[in-house]
Amino acid sequence: MNRPFPTELSGCAEKLIRGRHATRAFRPDAVPEDTMRNVFSLAGAAPSNSNAQPWQIEVVSGAARERLAAALRAAHTEQRTSVDFPYSETMYAPVHRTRRAAFGAGLYGALGIGPDDQAARAAYDEESLGFYGAPHAAFLFVTGDGGARLAADVGAYMQTLLLAMTAYGVDSCPQGLLSFYADTVRAELGVTEGKLLVGISFGYADESAPVNRVVAERAPLGSTTAFHA
Ligand SMILES: Cc1cc2nc3c(=O)[nH]c(=O)nc-3n(C[C@H](O)[C@H](O)[C@H](O)COP(=O)(O)O)c2cc1C
Repeated sequence: MNRPFPTELSGCAEKLIRGRHATRAFRPDAVPEDTMRNVFSLAGAAPSNSNAQPWQIEVVSGAARERLAAALRAAHTEQRTSVDFPYSETMYAPVHRTRRAAFGAGLYGALGIGPDDQAARAAYDEESLGFYGAPHAAFLFVTGDGGARLAADVGAYMQTLLLAMTAYGVDSCPQGLLSFYADTVRAELGVTEGKLLVGISFGYADESAPVNRVVAERAPLGSTTAFHA
């Protein structure tokens, strides 16, 4: 059936998807519990291969958040990193490196950190283990054998969660950095199953922070997408 275009829903989707941005400075105000339940229930509508839903989500707030932030800082100081999904700069193709460099220049520029100031960048990374000041953080674990296909399902969950948050007026930042301390997160939260893919800090943006005005441009359609007929 041909539908008129744009539809009401496409307008909402444009607003929702383009309205989500990574937030890197939060106000301390907590997200109400019923909003939290609505957001995480909606995120559970994410698709997954054969509907296996191979995710386990651990959300920290209040005292649990404080304890975890302290444990992450201690792990960082003692250089106790542990990753469930290996990471290497070499996984990026030259085109990815160019995009990453452009993004880094914009982000660190907004923070007043110079391009070669590695010490200031490292200090900012350490600071970000405090969830950018967000009152909550969600940790997404891949259950089952934690392989690439199951991780892709959890990636779909992640984006659904980020959009659900946006729809409910909740700001967020996915933080791959938090997954570099998988053993610390597991120990603090008593998690015995699954591999840690990513942590997501969330709450309400501090609109006055210049870092929250950083815009990450996207590659043009033709450079990422081919239409075959
Ligand atoms: C899996 C994943 C990991 C990320 N890790 C970090 C991180 O550790 N720190 C950070 O500040 N932003 C992180 N981001 C946010 C990205 O930098 C951001 O999504 C990207 O630059 C596009 O910008 P936008 O989200 O504002 O559109 C991550 C995003 C994703 C999807």
